[in-house]
Order: sequence, then structure tokens, then C-alpha cells
Amino acid sequence: MQSVNTPLSLRHRVQDWRAQGLRIAFVPTMGNLHEGHLTLVRRALQAADRVVVSIFVNPLQFSAGEDLARYPRTEVRDAQLLAEAGAHLLFLPEVIALYPRGIEACTRVEVPGLSDILCGASRPGHFTGVATVVTKLFNLVQPDVAVFGQKDYQQLALIRTLVADLDMPVEIIGVPTQREASGLALSSRNGYLNEAERAQAPGLYAVLTRLRDALQAGEGDIPALEARGRAELEQAGFRPDYLSVRHSADLAPFVPTPGESFVVLGAAWLGTTRLIDNVEGRLAL
Ligand code: PAF
Repeated sequence: MQSVNTPLSLRHRVQDWRAQGLRIAFVPTMGNLHEGHLTLVRRALQAADRVVVSIFVNPLQFSAGEDLARYPRTEVRDAQLLAEAGAHLLFLPEVIALYPRGIEACTRVEVPGLSDILCGASRPGHFTGVATVVTKLFNLVQPDVAVFGQKDYQQLALIRTLVADLDMPVEIIGVPTQREASGLALSSRNGYLNEAERAQAPGLYAVLTRLRDALQAGEGDIPALEARGRAELEQAGFRPDYLSVRHSADLAPFVPTPGESFVVLGAAWLGTTRLIDNVEGRLAL
């Protein structure tokens, strides 16, 4: 696996492949890779001839007081895992390479609506940071296909909307969340948890799953279900941020309708760590 740090060297490498008629897949990451990321790389390998992975902890998607400074940087190990998984090119830029005029001065890409709800409500500016960096990375790599995890369900919905709205010629593939046997979704942020929190953490998935099952079993009072879920999260030791049942397609508040698919999304704190997860379901016809 080759590794490059500058937009120019990335462009040269990718142009070369394109000239050979090769199909290119792209997996953007913030590093600190785990099995979830490697599953994305394996999916990308099925979809194209060459796989580009980026590792970039994007300061624009962190607000003041968030975990930018403590976000784990494990590039040497990450590069080894990516090479073993079969990725062809690693793009590992410095902040100055992607934001040469500074973060504040950079042009922003905003996806209205989807950016302001759920995670966006508690992390103002986060999704504009994501939309901006993903647009920049897509412009640099110019992939045929890009692969994202469904764990960041709202992010995936936002990127699909961004690509459609701006007519980007990129196919977006979503990959199901990888979980520990306990149900805990794999996440770089799990590394922040102490031993006691780690034991509590699978509770988030358990609550979301119970809510989905109750809905599918015919309980249709969404506000009551959400309130019950929040209470269950608190009992399990979490400080809930949000817990919400939404239509899968556009993340609008779910109105139970036979045959309609939905997603239960939750974000909750354990100590200083904010975990997110989601579970999809569908009502019977
Ligand atoms: O999901 C992530 O790791 C990041 O939000 C992404 C898509 C790489 C953009 O920085």
C-alpha cells in the first residue's frame, strides 16, 4: 500500500489509475481503525479495482469543548491494518494541506434540515464540517463509489442528500454496523470508556432494540415509547442526549403506517463519552 500526504500526490496517483480505466472506491475515516472500518475497506474492494482510504481528523466537524484534542491518533497501526486488508492507497494529509487558508476562512457546504436535527441539534456546525470535508475529499479522489458505515446513520443520510443535491457522480454504499457479541457497536470512542462504563455501554443497543421490537409488536404511541426508552437509558446508567423514532428515508418524525420502515436513533453519555447507535425496523403490512 502506498501512502501520500499532499492533495497533488493523491491526484497524480488517482489520475494514473483512471487513465488505465480502473474503477476507484473511497473510504474516508478519522483513523483509530477497528474491525468496522476494515469491513468498509473489504466492501470497497468488492466494488472497485482500487481502494483509497483517507485518515483525517477533521477539525471543522468538532466544536469547542469536543474531543478533537484527545481523539486517538494511531496512524502507524492504522496503515498496517489497511495494508493487510488490501487497501491500495492511504491519504494522510495535515490540516494545513486541506485548509491552507485556515479553518475559519474555508468555504462551507451546508445541507439544511438534516444538519440541524438529532446529533446536529447537540453538535451545532458538526454536519457542515462533515459535508465540507467529504465534498473536498470527493473532489480530490473523484471516486466512482464511496463507502460509509450505517452506525453514523444521520451522516450517511446527509451524504446521500449532499451527493444528490450537488449532482456528484459518486455511488454511496452504506455498510451495516459491526457489533461486539454484547451488541455494542464498534466505535473509536469506545476506547474512552473505563471498565465500569464499558460494562454499561451495550445497554444503548439493548434499549434501541426493545423500542424497535415494541413498535413492531404494535405499540404505536411514539412519544410514550421514546419517554420509556429514555427512562430505561437512565436506569442503565446513561445520560440520554436524544432517543427518537424516525422515518428511515428522510429522518422525519415517524408516523406509524403499515409497511413503513423506521429507524430508532439514540445518543447518550457515559461519563465524558458520547455514544450513538441506531436500529432499523419495519411495521407489518
Ligand atoms: O465518519 C467519519 O469518520 C467522519 O465523519 C468522516 C466521514 C471521515 C468525515 O470526517
